[in-house]
Amino acid sequence: MGDIINKKSIRLLVTGGAGFIGSNFIRYWLKEYPDDKIVNLDILNYAGNLENLKDAENNPNYKFVKGDICDMGTVAEIMGEVDLIVHFAAESHVDRSIMDSGNFVRVNVEGTRVLLEAAKNAGGKRFHHISTDEVFGHLGPGDPAFNERAPLSPRSPYSASKAGAEHLVRAYFHTHKLPVTISNCSNNYGPYHFPEKLIPLFVTNLLEDKKVPVYGKGENVRDWIHVDDHNRGVDMIIKKGRIGETYCLGGGNEISNLALTRMILRLMDKDEAMIEYVADRPGHDLRYAIDFSKARHELGWEPEIDFEAGLKNTIEWYKKNKEWWQRIRSGAYQEYYNKQYGKQ
Ligand code: NAD
Ligand code: TYD
Repeated sequence: MGDIINKKSIRLLVTGGAGFIGSNFIRYWLKEYPDDKIVNLDILNYAGNLENLKDAENNPNYKFVKGDICDMGTVAEIMGEVDLIVHFAAESHVDRSIMDSGNFVRVNVEGTRVLLEAAKNAGGKRFHHISTDEVFGHLGPGDPAFNERAPLSPRSPYSASKAGAEHLVRAYFHTHKLPVTISNCSNNYGPYHFPEKLIPLFVTNLLEDKKVPVYGKGENVRDWIHVDDHNRGVDMIIKKGRIGETYCLGGGNEISNLALTRMILRLMDKDEAMIEYVADRPGHDLRYAIDFSKARHELGWEPEIDFEAGLKNTIEWYKKNKEWWQRIRSGAYQEYYNKQYGKQ
């Protein structure tokens, strides 16, 4: 991280910090580095929820700005105040990108370009980009796991827009010498996960005695990682990663959707009758798997949270925090910003 690693207090711009991974990142960072200062820039789309960060809102080292990463005026103003950008903001749900890809290109590609341009104009700010394993496309059952040398070969509008963003990040490194790093992580799970994604949707449905919709035959395989392991990896890349490099982060937990569903049913004392097989996702990626040996060798990072234990804790979190997800289901969470900040 060059000169900023030696600073007593680092000033961070976290984009998308009101979402699932970004809010967990802010909580993690404020705990690990209580002298650092964070600006959270988030537009509060449907997945942006300030109730994810209630415990940070009175911290004098934390500031929330409601704004759009595509808006150069807003971004340029904040850029002058920070040393490091950690860029999470995105439209993140594959199914939504199938319904309407326009906003994915606007936010994920153009929004990333605006941030890179502003970081360059502000003197070349250190930039960490959060990407996904989905940019690599998908694997057959016997294929070796993705690593940093895998070509970008996306297959959904979501992953195509994330691949576009990644190309821009590398372009700013090569062309403008912007000090960037990139992480490609596999599927995250954990607390504050918006209940449209498989794990939180299934857990909250079961808590309400509703069935769980498995796409197709449930044969698709994902590699699950706890969000805290991901964020610790991002921290290590920021602190120890080589500029211009990409690091793959994964959980080492490949499991089919059906096997995962059965595990959730078992942990929640429910039976198979709660499964509803529904129409498959168009272009449904068959399998993701990540080889994280570069992060292990260069950074000493590896995932630490056992999958079954992490899943159990996550289920407990959803049981204890019913109000959090019920306010999402009712839409009440969207009023929280007005209540706290008193404006539209
Ligand atoms: P999320 O949808 O929960 O959060 C995204 C956040 O970005 C929201 O708070 C939203 O309001 C904000 N946002 C959207 N458009 C914005 C804009 N124009 N300006 C400012 N803020 C905006 O997503 P997540 O699951 O937390 O994912 C965060 C990042 O991690 C994304 O870049 C995603 O591609 C990447 N990622 C996610 C996973 C995963 O399993 N969830 C895995 C690997 C990588
Ligand atoms: P998701 O959580 O949307 O993550 P991603 O598509 O980014 O991997 O989905 C994880 C897997 O679960 C994916 O193979 C699609 C499947 N799935 C279902 O079977 N049912 C559902 O209701 C959802 C949301 C996903």
